Amino acid sequence: MMNTKILAAVALASVAHAQSQLYGQCGGIGWSGATTCVSGAYCSKINDCNSSSAATSAKTTQTTLATTTRTTSGASQTTSKPTATNSANPLAGKTFYANPYYSSEIVSIAAPSLSAAGSAALAAKATNVAKVGTFYWLDVRAKVPTIATFAKDVRTKNAQGANLVLPLVVYDLPERDCAALASNGELSLANNGAALYQQYIDDIAAQINAFPDVPFVLVIEPDSLANLVTNLNVQKCANAADAYKTLTKYAIKTLNLKNVVMYLDAGHAGWLGWPANITPAAQLFAQLYKDAGSPAAVRGLATNVANYNAWSISTCPSYAQGNAVCDEKKYVNALAPILQAQGFPAHFITDTGRNGVQPTKQQAWGDWCNVIGTGFGIRPSTSTDDPLLDAYVWVKPGGEGDGTSNSSSVRYDAHCGYADALQPAPEAGTWFQAYFVQLLQNANPAF
Ligand SMILES: *[C@@H]1O[C@H](CO)[C@@H](O)[C@H](O)[C@H]1NC(C)=O
Ligand SMILES: *[C@@H]1O[C@H](CO)[C@@H](O)[C@H](O)[C@H]1NC(C)=O
Repeated sequence: MMNTKILAAVALASVAHAQSQLYGQCGGIGWSGATTCVSGAYCSKINDCNSSSAATSAKTTQTTLATTTRTTSGASQTTSKPTATNSANPLAGKTFYANPYYSSEIVSIAAPSLSAAGSAALAAKATNVAKVGTFYWLDVRAKVPTIATFAKDVRTKNAQGANLVLPLVVYDLPERDCAALASNGELSLANNGAALYQQYIDDIAAQINAFPDVPFVLVIEPDSLANLVTNLNVQKCANAADAYKTLTKYAIKTLNLKNVVMYLDAGHAGWLGWPANITPAAQLFAQLYKDAGSPAAVRGLATNVANYNAWSISTCPSYAQGNAVCDEKKYVNALAPILQAQGFPAHFITDTGRNGVQPTKQQAWGDWCNVIGTGFGIRPSTSTDDPLLDAYVWVKPGGEGDGTSNSSSVRYDAHCGYADALQPAPEAGTWFQAYFVQLLQNANPAF
């Protein structure tokens, strides 16, 4: 039934937004089944085909959301009520560890500069943000030893009665962020990247094994598999596809440890939630999972990482452009039955770090860079309103920038210069005070 609604909405949208063929067939507006962009074109945004090959992004801890739909028909999925419950939620009752890296950004940069600017009330609120548990991104090999530092702290606090889980993002595939113009990853296949990645995973496993009493939750490789669903006509993604699959299997097999819970990244509603993409996505996740021997520590998927979609919204925003799957709750509920049919565990966590309010200036669903008008969202919690959802989480540490707005920078991405991107913005991953203040002022619930 939901499927029929989606197709009806897409059909309506194609009439309402009649566009040239080039821009019209990319899984969203005007998508009409088996075809995608005309030959030689790719999707520059979520659902616009573009004949040039110069769009997309550059980020470090942020991710590329510019996507293309591959040529496929996703029209045949059926929807039934998910049967999963969260009764065996491995995160139940746990608190996400607030790592000292993020809290020090707030305590030593954000709060003092608010105080200096005379905003004592906001500075006080900022210190509350510092107590929120966020994920720590292992985006270079050099960060792996930090796991031990954090794990010791968690061990100490748990011995004193806390019930903490240590949240980490595994994020260092060779040719990382393959739909981007310039690679921001440190590893490349041409430079022994596959072996170095295996070493990186082995090192993470060794760190985790040294703390068998500390529970870990891992998000595996944001954007990577989603890029294989939709961006195989980007040459770098096509070249990296086999390595992404082989190395993701290696990661989930090697990190299949008793004190680990893993969620593979699954993009978000505006990316894989389109009718053309959702079934191929579920098939890809399930195939990898089965090929890896169905590792018990793989619990499900992480959605909305670093993105702004609401968890649940009554009226779809205009930038959802006719996709009825316009929030993350609808997305996981649309995805779950397809995953279950494929034998993949349909449990989820969703990033609510920056989705407290919906941006009013957002021009396109795929706009990902420092979007204006967003706010901190639901606090990390394993108490959720949907049995499919194990936890609300803050994967993207709010206040760390998505990319520079300086068009002279080698890492400049056009998305960061759009009218809906807050400017001036510093380089990706570095502290962006004005963005932090925006998130704090718009926080919902308020701090
Ligand atoms: C296509 O890509 C070019 C280069 O990035 C950009 O200037 C143009 O706005 C894009 N067109 C659409 C429809 O997205
Ligand atoms: C922009 O980037 C260029 C090149 O890195 C640099 O020389 C310049 O100082 C930057 N401008 C600002 C305002 O940061």
